[in-house]
Order: sequence, then C-alpha cells, then structure tokens
Amino acid sequence: MKKKNILFAHHSPSENTKKLSKLVKNKIETATLDVKLTTLDLIDVNTSSFKEIDGLIIGTTENFGYMSGLTKDFFDRCYDVLKDKTEGLPIIYYVRAGLDGEGCKIALNKILIGLRWRQVLPPLILKGSWQEEDYLKQLEKFVLTFASGIELGIY
Ligand SMILES: Cc1cc2nc3c(=O)[nH]c(=O)nc-3n(C[C@H](O)[C@H](O)[C@H](O)COP(=O)(O)O)c2cc1C
Repeated sequence: MKKKNILFAHHSPSENTKKLSKLVKNKIETATLDVKLTTLDLIDVNTSSFKEIDGLIIGTTENFGYMSGLTKDFFDRCYDVLKDKTEGLPIIYYVRAGLDGEGCKIALNKILIGLRWRQVLPPLILKGSWQEEDYLKQLEKFVLTFASGIELGIY
C-alpha cells in the first residue's frame, strides 16, 4: 500500500503554542505509523504543498475572535485553487485560545464547508489558562487518532 502523506500546517506565535506544534510533529514522527508528515508554518504553505496530501492538520490561535491573521492569510492566498483540487480532503484542526475559541471555530468551519474538506474529528479547542499536561495529552490523542485513521485509509 502507498505510504500516506499528512501535512501539518500551523501558526505557533508563543512559547506555549510552540510546545503544541512540537508535540504534534514529534508524536506523529515517532509513532509506529506508516505515514510521512510534512510540517510547515502556515506562512510557508502554498497550493503546491497539497500535492499528494492524504490528510491535513491545522493548528492556529484565536485572535480578536477569529483565526490568527496568518491562518486567514493562508486561506486568502490558496482558497480558490484548493477549492477545485482538494475536495473531500480529511482535516482536523486545533485552536489555542486564551479565552474562548468559538469565533475561530465558526470562521474555520465555514471555510472548510466552502472547500468541501471533511472534518473527520470535532475540533480540539484548548481554551483558558494554560494547562500544559492536560493540553498535551489531549492533543497527542487527537492527532494520533487522526494519523492512524489516515494510515488505515478509514477516513
Ligand atoms: C492580539 C491578540 C488577540 C487575542 N484575541 C483573543 C480572542 O479573541 N479570543 C481568545 O480566546 N484569545 C485571544 N487571545 C489570546 C491568544 O489566543 C493566546 O495568547 C494564544 O493562543 C497563545 O496562547 P498562550 O498565550 O498560552 O501562549 C489573543 C491574543 C492576542 C495577542
């Protein structure tokens, strides 16, 4: 069976959010899964990053009741091209939000519907004061569930 490719595209502007994105990268790369992970800052993602991608993980912060500016910038730059080429792409996303996360979730869900991507697990919203152990545990389970599903081709 052909090795599956997962793209992890994130915006991690703080020490805490860097811990989240490092965990995603490390856990998927060291898991006994037959998947290839490509990790990119969202600012470096473009439409060619999606060639032969079987699954996508997005990590963002919530800023001003919306996704971070660089997450929005990625969609601004790539939406039109991706809309025609990536229908049905399995995706999950997590949001680090100091307070809430709801505005970011609503905005992202609308875009994902427009792109006709398939959100195969409910989003993980890590909100409130920083809970390192709890957040890292939740995130690990979330991304490994997704990566296993991609490897097995069940999504
Ligand atoms: C300019 C700015 C706007 C923000 N707006 C929101 C917001 O609307 N909702 C929210 O839940 N958190 C908001 N935050 C908090 C960020 O989500 C949080 O700082 C970020 O996810 C990084 O997490 P950390 O502070 O634990 O490192 C904002 C932070 C900044 C710097």
